[in-house]
Amino acid sequence: MSIASAVTRKISEFKLAREFAARGPWCTRFDIGDRSYGGELDYRGDKRVKYALSEFPDARTILELGSLEGGQSFQLARTPGMKVLAIEGRADNLHRAQWVQKILGVDNITFVQGNLETIELEQYGPVDLVFCSGLLYHLPRPWELIEQIASITGNLFLSTHYVEDAKATEEVNGYRGDYYSEQTDPLSGMSARSFLLTLDSLQQALRDNGFSAIEILETFHPPSRGIKIGSGGRSIGGRPQVHMAARK
Ligand SMILES: C[S@@+](CC[C@H](N)C(=O)[O-])C[C@H]1O[C@@H](n2cnc3c(N)ncnc32)[C@H](O)[C@@H]1O
Repeated sequence: MSIASAVTRKISEFKLAREFAARGPWCTRFDIGDRSYGGELDYRGDKRVKYALSEFPDARTILELGSLEGGQSFQLARTPGMKVLAIEGRADNLHRAQWVQKILGVDNITFVQGNLETIELEQYGPVDLVFCSGLLYHLPRPWELIEQIASITGNLFLSTHYVEDAKATEEVNGYRGDYYSEQTDPLSGMSARSFLLTLDSLQQALRDNGFSAIEILETFHPPSRGIKIGSGGRSIGGRPQVHMAARK
């Protein structure tokens, strides 16, 4: 590379870093060219995206729920012929995703804002697959979203935390679980508290809505770890987690 083109590249990297900083704080890390920008959450090679695409290889229309800054959306959209519609509740997260979309020149994703506690999903369906990762456990009435999902698809990839049976102290709507308090950072739910289902009740809610074939791909206890978000921080993980594929 000539000195002139190395200087030009450094200038554009510097400008891009400045534009990222102006739109922060970011949660998600984006690798563009030889540099990374944004936050700490690294979605490269994301296991949930890999599971979804390998479990549902024929899906060409995906509705993604709780898309944050688009970290998983951009990976899902890489499949040729794919169309992704991604719903996110927080305007700031949505605008960051839309801005990165322009930078990356990706044209097969539509990012829209919506509150998944109250939204009618019918307006976005039918779709080949719903991709629901890191979202369900942030809702106060998760069974309502499952009902909404069932109204527009027969295929669901779900990654969520759950509560162990021994720690479930509540029963609501016939489903066992426990309440937990939400925070206010960009990764959180939109109500003050959410309802964490047990694994059995989660599967029951899926069956109650017609998902008769449920495959648990993996359950595990992710270590709790802290991530920095601007000058603040947030701990993620900790509670048991499940990856599952559900079909009608
Ligand atoms: C923990 S992050 C998960 C991000 C990503 N999908 C993942 O699996 O890593 C939860 C995301 O869902 C969004 N969210 C939480 N509650 C929501 C709601 N009621 N409606 C829409 N989005 C919501 C948050 O703003 C955040 O972007």
